[in-house]
Order: sequence, then structure tokens, then C-alpha cells
Amino acid sequence: MTRQGTVRGMISAALAVLATAGAAIGEETGEEEYLSACASCHGVGGTGPGPMKDYLSVAPPGLTGLAAANDGAFPMLKVIQIIDGRTGVRGHGGDGMPVWGAVFKAAEREAGSYAAEIEARGRMLSLALYLEAIQE
Ligand code: HEC
Repeated sequence: MTRQGTVRGMISAALAVLATAGAAIGEETGEEEYLSACASCHGVGGTGPGPMKDYLSVAPPGLTGLAAANDGAFPMLKVIQIIDGRTGVRGHGGDGMPVWGAVFKAAEREAGSYAAEIEARGRMLSLALYLEAIQE
């Protein structure tokens, strides 16, 4: 192998490790976020209505069949928009689900508006990655 080839191989190996670590971190954070913000309605592991269902007029659906309902492809963008809620995509309307984009951003108010927005998006992305990981 040429020297250049070796270097390139090392770089792509390093990138592969980083990508895997990134996804794993995203899922772990996402799972914690999920347990604190979503499980009360969507159930632990996304398998169906949690204890909050008795207080809602619309029963929260399970979230492990989102890919199956979309021809096997996880609808990443739509899920992020539903979690965000600020985009007006159906899913958390009425007395159903809170608008998490605004909740997450408000929680970071002290960081300043730009940093708060980045933080809120990171949390929503972690949640979406977690949901992608629990699809059946
Ligand atoms: C207060 C209860 C409640 C909480 C908390 C909640 N949801 Fe929901 N969620 C609902 C309800 C109710 C619906 C169904 C709304 C409808 O059909 O209009 C829904 C719908 C959804 C959908 C669309 C499902 C589909 O089949 O189209 C997704 C995705 C979702 N929620 C994700 C989340 C995530 C992620 C969290 C945590 C950040 C969360 N929800 C927290 C009540 C809740």
C-alpha cells in the first residue's frame, strides 16, 4: 500500500469510529430525554400509551411502528417536526402533546437565543435518533 493510501485508510477508519460513537451517544441521550419527556404518554420504549392516557382525549400512539407505517423508511424529518411542534405538523395538536421545540428552547434561555436554539435542535435530534433505533 502507498503511504497516501495508508493515511487515507486511517482517516476513514477514524471517521467510521467517530460516526458510530456519535450515533451511540445520540441514542443514549435520546433515551434519557425520551424517558423524562415522552414515556408518560407514549410508554417506556415507545410501545404504547403510558399512564397519562387517562387524562387525554386522544390516546397517544405507540412509536415503534413509524417506519413500518412509512413503507419501512423512518420518517426522520417528519418526526423531528412533530416533536418540535413549532412547524405546525400534525401530531401534537389539541390537548395532545406539548410543543417541545419551545419547551427545550425556553429551558436554555440563559445560554442566549442562538445557543438555546442549537441546544433545542440537538435534543430533538437525539430524540429522533432514539426513536429510529427502537423501530420494529
Ligand atoms: C401529554 C402527552 C404526550 C407527551 C408528553 C408526548 N406526546 Fe407525542 N403524542 C401525544 C398524542 C396524544 C399524539 C397523537 C396526536 C394526534 O393523533 O393528533 C402524539 C403523537 C406523537 C407522534 C406522531 C405519531 C404518529 O403515529 O403519527 C410522535 C412522533 C410523537 N408523539 C413523539 C413524541 C415524543 C418524541 C415525545 C417526547 C419529547 C412526545 N411525543 C411526548 C401525546 C404526547
